[in-house]
Amino acid sequence: MMDMRDIQMVDLKSQYNEIKTEVDQSIQSVIESAAFINGPEVKSFQTELEKYLNVKHVIPCANGTDALQVAMMALGLKPGDEVITTTFTFVATAEIIALLGLVPVLVDVDPNSFLIDTDAVEKAITKNTKAIIPVHLFGQCANMELIMEIADKHGLKVVEDAAQSIGSDFKFSDGRTAKSGTIGSFGCTSFFPSKNLGCYGDGGALFTNDDALAEKARMIVNHGMKVRYYHDEIGVNSRLDSIQAAVLRVKLRQLDKYNKARKNAANFYDSAFAEIEEVVKTPFRMKNSSHVFHQYTLRIMNGKRDELQSFLTEHNIPAMIYYPVPLHQQKAYRDERYQDGAFPIAEQLSKEVLSLPMHTELDEKQLDFITQKILEFVKK
Ligand SMILES: Cc1ncc(COP(=O)(O)O)c(C=O)c1O
Repeated sequence: MMDMRDIQMVDLKSQYNEIKTEVDQSIQSVIESAAFINGPEVKSFQTELEKYLNVKHVIPCANGTDALQVAMMALGLKPGDEVITTTFTFVATAEIIALLGLVPVLVDVDPNSFLIDTDAVEKAITKNTKAIIPVHLFGQCANMELIMEIADKHGLKVVEDAAQSIGSDFKFSDGRTAKSGTIGSFGCTSFFPSKNLGCYGDGGALFTNDDALAEKARMIVNHGMKVRYYHDEIGVNSRLDSIQAAVLRVKLRQLDKYNKARKNAANFYDSAFAEIEEVVKTPFRMKNSSHVFHQYTLRIMNGKRDELQSFLTEHNIPAMIYYPVPLHQQKAYRDERYQDGAFPIAEQLSKEVLSLPMHTELDEKQLDFITQKILEFVKK
C-alpha cells in the first residue's frame, strides 16, 4: 500500500490543504485588523450560522462545554434542581450539571441508536426536575418530538447537546424539519477541531429562537454585561476568538459538502459490512433524523471488539472506543443511586462499540483497505 495516505481518525491536514488559500487569507485579515475579541468576523460568522440553521439567535462562545453551562445559567437553574441526561455521552454533558450544583439524573439509551431512551426520561421525572439534555450522539438527533412533548407536559426546559450533530435535520411527524439544536430552549454545539464544523482551537455556540434567553446568554458569555463595565448578571468569560470565527466562516461554506462526504464514507462502510452483519452491526439510521456521521460506530457482537481494535492498530488503522465507560461508572460521577447494572444497555454498548476512521478526506483506497482488514479479521 505504498501510495496510500496514512489513515487517520480525522485528517485535518488534508482538509486544510483543500481550503488553505481561503483560510490563510481569512486569518491574515484578522491579524491585520487586530480585532481579536468580538471583532466583525465573529458577528459575520454568527449571522451566517443563524441563516444556515434557520434559527433566530446564535451566541458564539469559547467551547461546547461552556455553551452547555451558559445555557443552564441563562435558564436560571438553581442548586438542587434535577437535570435528566444520558449516561452514554461525552463527560461534558454531565460535568456542567454537577459543576453548577445541579443534580445529574442519568438514564439509559436505546440499543440501536445509542440515543437517550425517551421512556426512561419520562420515568425519571420528579418534582425537582427542571430540564432535560438530550444528546444528539454521533450525528443523529434524539427523538425531539417526543422529548418536547414530555417537556411541555411536565413544564421542563430542553437543552439540546448538538456538539456532534451540526447540520443534521430532525423531521417531525407532520413533515416539518428543523436543524439539530434549534428545537429546544437552547441548542449547544462545539467547534472542537475534529467536530463536523471544527475550528483550529476551541470554540462553541448556543442557538435559540427565544429573544430573552438569547439576550441573557449573550450577556453571560461576556461577564454578564450588556453595557461595558455594568454587570447585570453573574457571567463568565467565554468568547469565540475572531481568528477561530474567520476559520469557521470558511468551513461553514463547506459544511454540507463535508457532511455529504462523511455520509458517502458511511455508505461505503455499510455495504462492505453487509455480508458480516451477524458480527458487525452497522449504525442504525433513524427515520426522523438525518445522520451527519460525526462518528461511524459499529457494535462488535462476537465479544472480540478489543482484539479487532488491536488487529486494526497493527495494520495502522486507528479505531476508537466512544465511550469505554458510561458516566454512572466514572469515578467522578459514582453515585449510590447508580450501581453497576443500573443502565445495562449503556454498559453493554461500552463493551461492544468501535468507531472507525470518519472524516471528509477518506478516499476509496483507504476505505477499501479498512473494510478488507475488518472482513479478514471477522472471517478468519
Ligand atoms: C456530546 C458532547 N458534548 C459536549 C462537548 C464539549 O465540547 P467542547 O470540547 O467544545 O467543550 C463535546 C465535545 O467535546 C461532545 O462531544
